[in-house]
Amino acid sequence: MTSKALWWQRGVVYQIYPRSFQDSNGDGIGDLPGITQRLDHLKWLGVDALWISPFYRSPMADFGYDVSDYTDVDPIFGTLANFDRLLDKAHRLDLRVIIDFVPNHTSDQHAWFVESRASRDNPKRDWYLWHDPAPDGGLPNNWTSVFGGSAWEWDAATGQYYLHSFLKEQPDLNWRNPEVQEAMLAQMRFWLERGVDGFRLDVINHVIKDAELRDNPRRSSADKWGAGEHVQFLHIYDKDRPEVFEITRMMRRLTDSYSERVLIGEVYHQDVHFWTRFYGTEEARGLHMPFNFRLLRTPWIAEEICASVEAVEGALEPWMQSNYVLGNHDTHRIASRVGRAQARIATMLLLTLRGTPTLYYGDEIGMEGVDIPLEAQQDPYGRNVGDPTVGRDAERTPMQWDASAYAGFSTVAPWLPVAEDAGTVNVAVQREDSRSMLTLTRRLLSLRRAHAALHGGDYQTVVAADGVYAYLREAEGARFLVVLNFTAEPRALAWPDLGRGEILLSTSLDREGDTSLEVFELRPNEGVLLRLS
Ligand code: NOJ
Repeated sequence: MTSKALWWQRGVVYQIYPRSFQDSNGDGIGDLPGITQRLDHLKWLGVDALWISPFYRSPMADFGYDVSDYTDVDPIFGTLANFDRLLDKAHRLDLRVIIDFVPNHTSDQHAWFVESRASRDNPKRDWYLWHDPAPDGGLPNNWTSVFGGSAWEWDAATGQYYLHSFLKEQPDLNWRNPEVQEAMLAQMRFWLERGVDGFRLDVINHVIKDAELRDNPRRSSADKWGAGEHVQFLHIYDKDRPEVFEITRMMRRLTDSYSERVLIGEVYHQDVHFWTRFYGTEEARGLHMPFNFRLLRTPWIAEEICASVEAVEGALEPWMQSNYVLGNHDTHRIASRVGRAQARIATMLLLTLRGTPTLYYGDEIGMEGVDIPLEAQQDPYGRNVGDPTVGRDAERTPMQWDASAYAGFSTVAPWLPVAEDAGTVNVAVQREDSRSMLTLTRRLLSLRRAHAALHGGDYQTVVAADGVYAYLREAEGARFLVVLNFTAEPRALAWPDLGRGEILLSTSLDREGDTSLEVFELRPNEGVLLRLS
């Protein structure tokens, strides 16, 4: 596949949370010109594409995931002209730009919703999901909001409820309505015409709900991911309805009418076979990739990580592009989840598995989450469900560029605090350090780019036992072995059949060169990438 592979198949995606990447105008919030200033860093780092979380006009109830105008930039982030400059510079650097598209809901301040709630006979009434109370006068059904409480909000003026799967400021659109479909595809076309290289589709599996509004059944045991009442239910009727695949096909037809654009969907789903349906079928394609989030939720144990990888690889058909994610703006940072030493293993894993990796900003320097007390949290999620551990501010703190005040992110106190260790954990310090996490990430990206086996080769498990996970990547006769020690103890391995190898990289960045595999010693928390002879 390597010679014919497209940019999103062989490349690495880097996620930017725009509020937190670089502030260019001294208001403590990152912006588009700030991203443009830092594109040279991303080029130097060696990624291929950036995905920017939403920068549309928004009242910011959910920090941009509540869009009030899909065809404009919020003044906090800049202007459309700023976006055009960002895109132009990125393309000149041969970096692709994926933007976040939020199809499931708008802001309650969006002109469409303002019209929709104006009266029951407004032409846009049916653009959202309005329902009468149940016969007993109560809620239409038992659906809950991801962010806490009922998913139904009463509108006294018109005497009906509207559905919001997230905040009440984020009313859900009615994607069964052809006018909504047409209008939303037109918003996508606006950006395709501007030259964006693709979309990350926010909660795409939520866009269609059960037409009969059936109650969700209760779970027998709560899912440990997420908080509040929401996780007590099996969400079989308020998302993942089969009609969603008609919507993803529509979107695919649109993007296929442009050259080399990509659709990546946010789909959290435990059943890997259901999850693969988001790719569509070979004849009628859907998303280019539904994000594979399984590594976010798999215990950090060699055997379990291997099982997770095998489950995905085993479920994919040859034409489906694999992909892996270890961090994003909704999940506590990998360095906090597994510790700094294992974060190096995680980066080697992410950048040597088969398929497209997505790297979260700051993970390349091993940024850790920042604990923020509940009352000071900006994200409404933790406050709504009353759990200080689920808020997402921790993983959204400012990028740590240098040791100056506010880490080079801004000249004023940023919207979220800078991590206390930013004086040492930052890009400037790590660029000069031949053993830093940044050096490791950059070397891995460079090796991945250089070798077809790593960016496009086959995957095969060698072993997952006793805290060690090892696999082969192979293409065009070249074979690479990745050996990862998930423990803090040394491990000795014996692979007489694999002959000799050349160590290309250790996560400790202190050994290279020819080695026998008859007895191969791994140090505590060490990962090694070898080329087999
Ligand atoms: C998923 C996004 O990643 C998250 O940040 C957001 O709050 C919800 N969707 C709602 O749009």
